[in-house]
Amino acid sequence: MSKPGFYVTTPIYYVTDSPHIGNSYTTIAADALARYKRQCGYDVLFLTGTDEHGLKVQRAAQAEGLAPRELADRVVAAYHDAWKRLEISHDDFIRTTEARHERVVQLIFQRWRDSGDLYPGEYKGWYCVSCESFLKESDEPQPKCPDCGRPTEWNSEASYFFRLSRYQERLLKLYEERPDFVRPAGRMNELRSRVAAGLRDLSATRTTLDWAVPLPFDPAHRAYVWIDALINYVSAVGYSTDEETFRRRWPADVQLIGKDILWFHAAIWPAMLMALGLEPPKGVFAHGWWTHNGEKMSKSKNNFVTPGEVADVYGADALRYFLLRELPFGLDGDFRDSAMLQRYNAELAGDLGNFVFRTLSMMDRYFQGVVPDPGPAQRDGALAEAAASLFQDVDACMAELQFSRALERIWEFVRRANQYVEERKPWSQAKDPAQRAALGATLYHLAEASRILGLLIEPTMPASALAIRQQLGIEEERRTLAEALTWGGLKPGTKIRRGQPLFPKKET
Ligand code: MSP
Repeated sequence: MSKPGFYVTTPIYYVTDSPHIGNSYTTIAADALARYKRQCGYDVLFLTGTDEHGLKVQRAAQAEGLAPRELADRVVAAYHDAWKRLEISHDDFIRTTEARHERVVQLIFQRWRDSGDLYPGEYKGWYCVSCESFLKESDEPQPKCPDCGRPTEWNSEASYFFRLSRYQERLLKLYEERPDFVRPAGRMNELRSRVAAGLRDLSATRTTLDWAVPLPFDPAHRAYVWIDALINYVSAVGYSTDEETFRRRWPADVQLIGKDILWFHAAIWPAMLMALGLEPPKGVFAHGWWTHNGEKMSKSKNNFVTPGEVADVYGADALRYFLLRELPFGLDGDFRDSAMLQRYNAELAGDLGNFVFRTLSMMDRYFQGVVPDPGPAQRDGALAEAAASLFQDVDACMAELQFSRALERIWEFVRRANQYVEERKPWSQAKDPAQRAALGATLYHLAEASRILGLLIEPTMPASALAIRQQLGIEEERRTLAEALTWGGLKPGTKIRRGQPLFPKKET
């Protein structure tokens, strides 16, 4: 039987900024989910990429004396480096300047034109280049963008309009029928009332912009960058070019975004799809925003946290862990340097790293680095019991994209495992030859707990998970997670290879 599919996306990032923890956050969350679903036996497609057209990119390139394409190539290289460094396991990386994408954008505009969803008109209004968005209609001048606070520009030009207003009822019906279309639930109300208040048709093309996809039927017009960008989610999976792939992949299972771009993803995007006779995605999850030591990150304050600088100090796994653990997914949070250090030392170096290192050291010391046989009577025990509901609990958290709760649950187990060491006192058992079998059972259970932890942390900390596996001398896991988590999977007799501590303690 073929594996069930799972399609997860991140927004595609503007090539005006290099990677920072804001966009790394979405990508790391998507990666953790993709890795988890792969562990559970899904055929995953994890898509990310870059948004390369539009005025914002054109002007940023100009300011540096570069062609837009040159700027894009440079920033794309920085994204590839960052994602490699952070062990992002995307299956595809789409650039909106690729022919496979531009072709589909043109085709979609043609389809809308043919179906009457696109019509020519005249656009007048205020535009924010930084957000690449048209401001809401108002009689008052709007010199500042209500979202980002930057100065706006007055636009007056011929434009084709996408008939967004035609989809108001269908959008409201979608929200009604699928209340979890947008998560967290709190974000749905605002969206629904904005749609219920009425939808204006959307200016979908520009004539005053060179760096964008030209329309096939009127090349003086070029695609509005947001419409171009949203199309990436279907162009990457073969819409109108590879029907079989498209049928298998669309609708996406979940689209991860930041809260600032919810309107585009939960109102405009489903309407664009409806106009093509396509299903909306199964769900959109909007996460919160990070500040840094209590301040908004901005270029002028020069306080952007880059993933590279944190990974240099703590390692990529620790950054991934911190971002997913510190904050319930969906809420805003603050990246405090002190909290990063504290969690690293307490939870990674202390709880997890220490447990695995102790276990392997004792196995070396007392059993010459070979996993002992626990003996038939001792296969079960307190740790096996503690591990029994782990999969179910973690799985329930992951279904809700509650990474922080999943990690809390896993850490309950780590703490229980450390407590078990204190209870069994293997160093005392080792002194008494009559307790040799009991010592073997203790160490078997500790090693088995390490194996289980190596599986459970894989989505969040892939490099450390691999290190645990290698140190325990076990092969890559081929069974599904639920099967692999069954207690007793570690074979007695396995030769371990103790390595360095996973997370060396940092000075405060
Ligand atoms: N290009 C558009 C998306 C098009 S998707 C069809 C875009 N790009 S972006 O590079 O500006 O932002 C990408 C993502 O990064 C957004 O989801 C945004 O929410 C996220 N973040 C940017 N700064 C952030 C924080 N400080 N904290 C958390 N996420 C943040 O928008």
